[in-house]
Order: sequence, then C-alpha cells, then structure tokens
Amino acid sequence: MNKTLIAPSVLAADFGNLQRDIEMVNNSEADWFHIDIMDGIFVPNISYGMPVLKAITKHAEKTIDVHLMIVDPDRYIKEFAKLGADILTVHYEACTHLHRTIQAIQAEGMKAGVAINPHTSVDLLKDIINDIDLVLIMSVNPGFGGQSFIDNTYHKIQRLTEIISMHNADTLIEIDGGVTDENAAELSRAGANVLVAGSFVFKSENQPETIKNLKKIANS
Ligand code: DX5
Ligand code: ZN
Repeated sequence: MNKTLIAPSVLAADFGNLQRDIEMVNNSEADWFHIDIMDGIFVPNISYGMPVLKAITKHAEKTIDVHLMIVDPDRYIKEFAKLGADILTVHYEACTHLHRTIQAIQAEGMKAGVAINPHTSVDLLKDIINDIDLVLIMSVNPGFGGQSFIDNTYHKIQRLTEIISMHNADTLIEIDGGVTDENAAELSRAGANVLVAGSFVFKSENQPETIKNLKKIANS
C-alpha cells in the first residue's frame, strides 16, 4: 500500500515568521507544501499572490502543491510554472474548457489537479479522469481555514476510488479542509492519498510532532 502524504497548508502559517514556518515544514515529516491562492471572486476571501509564492519557493525544499481558487485560471498557468509550482490545481467550477486547461498545465511541465467543491459530484470527472494527475476533494467550502469537516466527503472518496479503478487511472486523491487526527485514519482508509492540514498543524504547540503523529495515524 502506498503511503498517505501530508501537505501542511501555508495559509495557516504565521506570515510574520514565514521563513521559520517553511523551514519547520522542510525539517518535518511533511511531504508537500500546500499553497492556497484566493482571488476574492471565486471565493469570498483573498489570500496571497505571486510575490509571496516567490518567497515561499525560495526556502521550500518539498513539492509545491498550488491550489488555485480563482476565476479564469488559464491566465496565470505560465507564471505559476515559472514560480516553481510542481502541481497546479484548478477548480472544476471555475473552468469552462477544463480539458484545455489541464493540457496547458501539463504542457508547462507541471502535474495537473482538479478541485471540486462540496456540492460538485465526482461523477462529473469520469470523462477526464485519465487526463488528470490529481483530484482535490474540498471537505469544507473553499475560502477559509479552520472550518469543520463535511462528512459526505467519505462517500465522495469511495466513489472516486471506484471511478479511478474502472478507468485504470492512477490519479491521486487529495482531501482539503478540516483534516485532524480524528478523521485522518478514516480518510486514508477510504482511499485518500494526500491530506492537507492547515490549522491543525500550525495552531498546534509542537508542529513537527503534530505532522509526525498525523502521518502515523494516516498510515496506521
Ligand atoms: C480552504 C483551503 C485549505 C485550508 C485548509 O479553502 O483550500 O487548504 O487552508 O485549512 P484547514 O486545514 O484549517 O481546514
Ligand atoms: Zn487548499
């Protein structure tokens, strides 16, 4: 069985001590950096943009997983590639020509992810599952950290796992929002490959230890 990966979400970091928090992740058992880009239009919040991502990638030594919560993401694909994104995830709900967007991301040498909001069915991805590298299932409504996990996510993971195996695809399943030590094991058992964790990691007292435990629980 493949290991379940842990991706701390930098949205919950202390921006006044960003380099310190990035180095904490570098030196921890975490696998990826999860970077949330919000435009205040697709979601009701604005996070950070290119200059901050540049500062993050300068110090980060692990996979850079960028989650775009923006309208018309095609405009910025080349720029995110230049800034060092390894994975670029766009929202299903924000793309009119999703297939074209996926191809444009991969043409820049990045892995392409598709994120779906809690109301969006995983069945809508059937016809594109072989073309995408990762599906990000939102387990809260996108826009803010620190919200509570939506239980229907388990069904979505199970159904997506079926779709992936029916199509002989090797798409990764990433879960984003409200992940804690209380749901990590069940998420992983249901078929999740990557768990994003923001508040649970950065608001804890011993962050490296929290990451270590979360990873242990997810792989138990
Ligand atoms: C929410 C973001 C998440 C967020 C998760 O829109 O996509 O990545 O940072 O934060 P927690 O783990 O606090 O729910
Ligand atoms: Zn995210």
